[in-house]
Amino acid sequence: MKDCVELLLNWYNENRRMLPWRRDKNPYHVWISEIMLQQTRIEAVIDYYERFMKRLPDIQSLAEVSEDELLKLWEGLGYYSRARNLKKAAMKIMNDFQGNFPDSYDDILSLPGIGDYTAGAISSICFDLPEVAIDGNVMRVYCRVNCLDLDVGDLRVKKEIGEKIKKILPKDSGDFNQGIMELGEVICIPGGVPKCEICPLKEKCKAHLKHKETEIPRKVQKIKIKEEEYTLFLLRYKDSYALRKRESGLLKNMWEFPNTEGFLTYEEIRKMIPSIQRIALSITNTHVFTHKKWYMNSYYIEVNKKDPQYTWVTLEEIEKNYALPTAFMPFYEEIKRRH
Ligand code: ADE
Repeated sequence: MKDCVELLLNWYNENRRMLPWRRDKNPYHVWISEIMLQQTRIEAVIDYYERFMKRLPDIQSLAEVSEDELLKLWEGLGYYSRARNLKKAAMKIMNDFQGNFPDSYDDILSLPGIGDYTAGAISSICFDLPEVAIDGNVMRVYCRVNCLDLDVGDLRVKKEIGEKIKKILPKDSGDFNQGIMELGEVICIPGGVPKCEICPLKEKCKAHLKHKETEIPRKVQKIKIKEEEYTLFLLRYKDSYALRKRESGLLKNMWEFPNTEGFLTYEEIRKMIPSIQRIALSITNTHVFTHKKWYMNSYYIEVNKKDPQYTWVTLEEIEKNYALPTAFMPFYEEIKRRH
């Protein structure tokens, strides 16, 4: 692996993508981008990142933003606890570090929402500290180059790979960490066939030399996804629609259309909502989260009075101020279409 370091650094220096968070080494920029990039593809992140930086250009503005506005900026990215933790961490930086982003690995790791991957990424990219940043891409490249049939879902394996890579980490730790990640994203790809013919490490890669690159890393058992059924009520009173804030659990503090568990019939809904004037079966949608799958059925319902337990808002207000999770977006599109 050691003889791959130079090849990887050369490849990265010549092929690195010009991404908006790579314009400088400002830790605020790198931090926000690394959090956005967790579980999300680079192409999907770019527009979010630019919009976020326009509205919240520094740590102080992030510490002071309202949670509602923050969730609106994050709307569609998913895993919303990431956004809530960003604000918590920004507040901690204002209080405990006089508003300056901390520059030691341990202090960075102490911030909410920052684990060893993110702490390693920021430490190496922004402060040239000799720290590794091990994500799924890095583990895949490492296992292939060394032809190791390891279970990369096992945290002990992740730790072991981190320790091995730390031993060969060059002075340009940030470039090395980003280079190996990037190689995993664009060449040594997870699904399908890796692009070995254009890989800078092809002559060193033991898996490639043994034609085992598609077998490594070994596939681990998938987690069981829990399936749930919901009925959504697209309640309309004149020009306004009913929303409700999710109080806890998955998607906490995001807005949703009123709903209840199970697929309900017209009869059951009429009993539940006495103010119905007109009701029509509307669209369905299925949404897959990491651990859950939602099947959603909906009814478009005109009512003759506003139930005060809900927040009644116009389409323009939803567009501007209310963060709806992606799972509910097709229903929002539907009420816009019918309006
Ligand atoms: N994926 C997540 N963070 C990255 C980075 N800094 N460089 C390349 N790919 C990444």
